[in-house]
Amino acid sequence: MPPSGQGQHVLLTGANGFIASHILSTLLDAQREYAVTATVRSQAKAEDVIKAHPEWKGKIQFVIVSDFTSQEPFNTLFKDTNTPFKYIIHTASPLKLNIEDIQKEMIEPAVRGTTQILESAHKHGGTELERFVLLGSAVSVLDSFEDLGCEGRPYTEKDWNPVSAQQAIDRKDTVLGYNDFMQTNKPNFDLTVINPDIITGPMIHPISGTGSINETNHFAIASFIDGTNPKVEDVRFPFYHFVDVRDVARSHIGALTSPAAGGQRILLISGLITPQLVVDAIRKHFPSLRKKVPVGEPDKELPQGVHPTGWDMRVSLDVLSKGQGSPWKYISLEESVRDAVQSMINHNVLPV
Ligand SMILES: NC(=O)c1ccc[n+]([C@@H]2O[C@H](COP(=O)([O-])OP(=O)(O)OC[C@H]3O[C@@H](n4cnc5c(N)ncnc54)[C@H](OP(=O)(O)O)[C@@H]3O)[C@@H](O)[C@H]2O)c1
Repeated sequence: MPPSGQGQHVLLTGANGFIASHILSTLLDAQREYAVTATVRSQAKAEDVIKAHPEWKGKIQFVIVSDFTSQEPFNTLFKDTNTPFKYIIHTASPLKLNIEDIQKEMIEPAVRGTTQILESAHKHGGTELERFVLLGSAVSVLDSFEDLGCEGRPYTEKDWNPVSAQQAIDRKDTVLGYNDFMQTNKPNFDLTVINPDIITGPMIHPISGTGSINETNHFAIASFIDGTNPKVEDVRFPFYHFVDVRDVARSHIGALTSPAAGGQRILLISGLITPQLVVDAIRKHFPSLRKKVPVGEPDKELPQGVHPTGWDMRVSLDVLSKGQGSPWKYISLEESVRDAVQSMINHNVLPV
């Protein structure tokens, strides 16, 4: 069955995720006229997406891909589609901070999932496939061995995290990597990798209880409301820069068609996020939550001894601006935290 949209055909993976839901919403915006095929891991998850957004009914062609570590389901998907894909946006990847087996639960599905779909697209995507947009991570750029106690040279689009997958496992650290597929295979399509830092903002993915708050909105925001972090001073984040999920979605749509985005690694970072800045924003916008949210030390923006390295994003800002046809402006932390908490309240996922 072809997707119901009339426009250029886009394949989106992991459509029920926190970020992918925003990408899907932006794609389905009537103005944009994209036809969307979306993968999820089960029929129930496809139904959850439509339950959360009845207005999307009939507008998305769902395909069930339960195993991302095998190429077969992707081969079938490319062979069976009536209308060839012009673009692929790949977002499906595990995002859990507390995991036991990093190799099995994180690195294998993330790296293998990406290489399997890339290889399959290369073999069966056909000549109409123009661009593959990969939702990457700033963790592939920054140095996980960085000394947070002293600010280093700002990172640029040319930097790569020096931590190998094996070191990540040994250190019980989570780092994603992808190989030099494009150089080796030289496929018909080009690749754009978007590398956001911590992503926060409103949730529009299927929600069923407190466990549905996505990982980053939970550790960076909800943990100060639900009693997980009763003291701001004790909290250390793994990273200290953020971007709002709506900016992430916007960047992916711009990257689909912009000639400037081809072959680029785009850095996507709005600004600083710290435990203190987050509680300040919650307390400012939600007086009714003040009794639950710690005050911290409002005059201390950064935790004691933390001096995160900044980002030199001039190249990325130019690419992002060209992608949307106007100067790129980021959503602020205050707005992102405000809208994230409001969505938690609306979904009734905060303790009363
Ligand atoms: N959130 C952030 O701060 C952030 C920052 C930088 C990069 N990213 C990248 O963005 C990706 C998505 O993040 P998110 O916040 O949207 O996470 P999310 O809400 O947990 O969504 C993850 C999506 O990936 C799918 N998935 C998880 N494990 C999988 C596996 N083993 N095989 C196939 N699909 C799998 C999930 O499907 P199920 O629902 O079936 O599990 C879901 O559709 C992350 O994995 C990461 O690579 C995220």
